[in-house]
Amino acid sequence: MAIKKGIIVAGGLATRLHPASLAFGKPFLPIYDKPMIYYSLSILLMAGIDQILIVTSPRDHALFKSLLGDGSQWGASISFVEQPVADGIAGAFLLGEDFIAGDGVCLILGDNFFYGEGLAGLVRDAAENNAGATVFCAPVENPAAYGVAAMEDDGTVTTLVEKPKTFISNWAVTGLYFYDSRATGFAKTLQPSARGELEVTDLNKCYLDAGALKAVLLEKDFCWFDTGTNETMFEAAVKVRDTLAAEGVNIGCPDEAAFKAGLIDRAQVLKNAEAIKNPAYADYLRKVAGE
Ligand code: DAU
Repeated sequence: MAIKKGIIVAGGLATRLHPASLAFGKPFLPIYDKPMIYYSLSILLMAGIDQILIVTSPRDHALFKSLLGDGSQWGASISFVEQPVADGIAGAFLLGEDFIAGDGVCLILGDNFFYGEGLAGLVRDAAENNAGATVFCAPVENPAAYGVAAMEDDGTVTTLVEKPKTFISNWAVTGLYFYDSRATGFAKTLQPSARGELEVTDLNKCYLDAGALKAVLLEKDFCWFDTGTNETMFEAAVKVRDTLAAEGVNIGCPDEAAFKAGLIDRAQVLKNAEAIKNPAYADYLRKVAGE
């Protein structure tokens, strides 16, 4: 059965981005013309996922509600759960246990940015055909900053390490994961790591040990950023601006993602355009609707 549920992990206090994130979390900081959270939200909508749970810090909860509402403008239902302390990404499966209710689920980190040829097909395929766990790996120059996968030539993952101190490979495991119904059960077996967190890499290791982990390799010309630093936020913003100028595509537009996934119709896109007072953005939505 296709995965229709998704969790966006968007808690934490983003101290690495202080002072930009002193008053509110990084999900609200702009990547060019949109709040950062729109980019991960668009990936879920693109995959046809229409039941969405946002993991938020208590501080940001009300802001999220005012930014995203109930999700109906995108044909989705959006709900929220507070994470009192940022004690690990895999904790989302414990906080979200009632929401998941034993189903398959997609998890995406609220600071991850993806763009590339065939992206919609890749995430749709993962949502529709996931068995076990599916992760997406991208080549990086600084693997020590990420969860990393070592793999055989055919892409079979042999080892997963969170922030490896010694080199194992250049393949970072990006912050987009699809899991079958075992995820919450596996998450309950995890112990906090040395940095005191329930690590998503440890959850992925449970699937690896069960022989149920699939890695999709994102090609070199594919664009992936963890926008958790000032530098990567800036690079992502440039990518959005340049792609809009060169290809007429506005990366991370939830209205477009929802429309193309069939979650909303043309009339709803036009209604959303009406509600936006920025003429350039509203015009883009009208173009999406075919006007
Ligand atoms: O971006 C990909 C990387 O993200 C992966 O390669 C790593 O395996 C994974 O652990 C993660 O590493 P980071 O060190 O970048 O994770 P960070 O602490 O920045 O958290 C990522 C997002 O998740 C961020 O937007 C805040 C949110 N978060 C994080 C934690 C630890 C929460 O909402 N709650 C949490 O408890």
